[in-house]
Amino acid sequence: MDFVQFCKKLPKIELHAHINGSISPQTMKELVKRKKATKPELADFSIPEGLEYITDFFPLFKFIYQLTDDEESVRLVTRRTIDEFAEDGVRYLELRSTPRANPETGMTKESYVASVLSVVNEPRQNIRVKLIISIDRRNTLEEAQEVVDLAIKFRDQGIVGIDLCGDVMVGSFDKLKPAFERAKAEHFKITLHFNEVKENIPEAPSMLSVNPDRLGHATLLDDASRETIYKNQCPIEVCMTSNVLCKTVSSYEAHHVKDLLKQGHPFVLCTDDKGVFFSELSNEYAKAGVAFDMTREQLFQASFQAIDAIFDDDRVKETLKQDWQTWRKLNQQEFSG
Ligand code: IMP
Ligand code: ZN
Repeated sequence: MDFVQFCKKLPKIELHAHINGSISPQTMKELVKRKKATKPELADFSIPEGLEYITDFFPLFKFIYQLTDDEESVRLVTRRTIDEFAEDGVRYLELRSTPRANPETGMTKESYVASVLSVVNEPRQNIRVKLIISIDRRNTLEEAQEVVDLAIKFRDQGIVGIDLCGDVMVGSFDKLKPAFERAKAEHFKITLHFNEVKENIPEAPSMLSVNPDRLGHATLLDDASRETIYKNQCPIEVCMTSNVLCKTVSSYEAHHVKDLLKQGHPFVLCTDDKGVFFSELSNEYAKAGVAFDMTREQLFQASFQAIDAIFDDDRVKETLKQDWQTWRKLNQQEFSG
């Protein structure tokens, strides 16, 4: 197996993947075709290959959301995204998505979540899937509480956590904090997009005070945040290509995952938005391998230790660990030489 093949075959955990950012170019084309009659103006839409800055990224969703504005397309993109991750060697996937309504098609936030979950819970042999629902930074507290209500309502159907995402330049965490405190009290796991840009740094103490179970990106760490995160052993969801393309990190080699590796701090390689950044999870492993001179054994260990960061229970963690070890034994020849 060459290195790229190895990264693809390696069993992997994906914990930071936004559904509407994960739509592959093929599925995007199909969605455009489906909407040809009602939205002909979207015929020329495609994802640009380069972004000037992170602020160019969020407006893309104005287009994408017009393609996924009904329950059937939501089911379609969820199914395709799961299949594509499985094809890339992902064995355990936590998808995340922001509940969205569209009165024109009759889609409500509740039917949105129900549609995603109906696909998440379809029987599958090769991959386990769970859902995190996202609160958008633009939300009012009332909207954020509505997301928590939906999490409670669908708790038994595979919702494992609540996320804070959205445009890094808008909104404030403090305004939404009571919703996260309630989610914690309801025993949901919490993950927060954290310190992607310097403007987010003042919010860090407040965010860390809700005891998040994982953090997304954590690109810029002031000393106090670093100390708390290291002390709490809070795993970081690392999305290298996303950071490099949004220019919040200057290169793969300069990526802050090198500090985590040095520190032995738990991290999980993830894609963020594989449809927008054109990078599958196997590619993130390959990039890390090259940038930090990691051996196949180190890449296997990176994938193996990610199991401890999942939001599912200990029984699932144990089963995954056994699966990984079985794979390791069966593929011993790939680690020698
Ligand atoms: P959705 O939640 O399935 O609709 O996925 C798209 C949404 O994810 C976008 O509207 C953003 O709010 C959010 N998102 C995707 N990538 C990022 C990121 O890197 N930072 C913050 N939010 C993000
Ligand atoms: Zn993200």
